[in-house]
Amino acid sequence: MSAGGFSGGPPEGAAADWTIPQGWSAYTAQEHATWVTLYERQAEVLPGRACEAFLKGLHALDLHGEGIPDFEQLSDKLERLTGWRVVAVPGLVPDEVFFDHLAHRRFPAGNFIRRADQLDYLQEPDVFHDVFGHVPMLTDPVFADYMQAYGKGGQRAMSMGRLRNLARLYWYTVEFGLLGTPEGLRIYGAGIVSSRTESVFCLEDPSPNRIGFDLERVMRTPYRIDDFQQVYFVVPSLDHLLEVTVSTDFAPLYDRLAGASDIPITAVQPDDRVFTRGTQAYAKAGGRLATAA
Ligand code: PHE
Ligand code: FE
Repeated sequence: MSAGGFSGGPPEGAAADWTIPQGWSAYTAQEHATWVTLYERQAEVLPGRACEAFLKGLHALDLHGEGIPDFEQLSDKLERLTGWRVVAVPGLVPDEVFFDHLAHRRFPAGNFIRRADQLDYLQEPDVFHDVFGHVPMLTDPVFADYMQAYGKGGQRAMSMGRLRNLARLYWYTVEFGLLGTPEGLRIYGAGIVSSRTESVFCLEDPSPNRIGFDLERVMRTPYRIDDFQQVYFVVPSLDHLLEVTVSTDFAPLYDRLAGASDIPITAVQPDDRVFTRGTQAYAKAGGRLATAA
């Protein structure tokens, strides 16, 4: 994940590309135990909810182990499958650094893990989100190509000043994407599969809209970073996602988007393909804050 607005170079101790040693031997027993707890919670909710590609990748990478995976060993397995590696970074990195890693089939992952009292929610991506959430999908050849193409697309969007629009594509696919299958909707987004509560909410709660994926529609839709999504977009297949994004020249799209208004987050448009029209009851009631209170 990247964050805009950074200035200056990498922090002390990081390389020019912001990578750092993972420092695997420095994790405490408590930190490894946190990984195992998070893993076991997801193992309960994901069968029948996560898509086949994710579950297959999780299995192929053997991410359970004794705790937080060693990125070198993990990367060796992943590289044999799709040519991707995982590199450690201190947390969010500048956009251009993030895109350069993706364009070279390197996934930057935070090396720290959340505290034991933050199992359900934290806003910055930690090693559980980055590795458990993102890396299994990188074992899928189609998704692996999509992520690399996105990195190259990010470099182009930056040069055209349209990162705001492109970032929405990342958000509604890589982070919060749903897949339509003959058996029903399944999750492929990393932000969902790494969250026990959202894994259930995104599929079963009557609150959010679930709408068919359309490139321009998605790039006009803002998102929220502080709570469950109010709208999820459903791709018919990962092949479709790759095909549409790679075969479309985004330049004319960006030109159009520069003059187009955003679509309100809860709106349903006349030509949307609606899977479920949400009640928005969760968001209207105040969302996470109301639930926590
Ligand atoms: N085809 C896009 C462009 O012309 C690049 C891209 C590919 C963006 C895949 C996102 C995902 O900019
Ligand atoms: Fe992420």
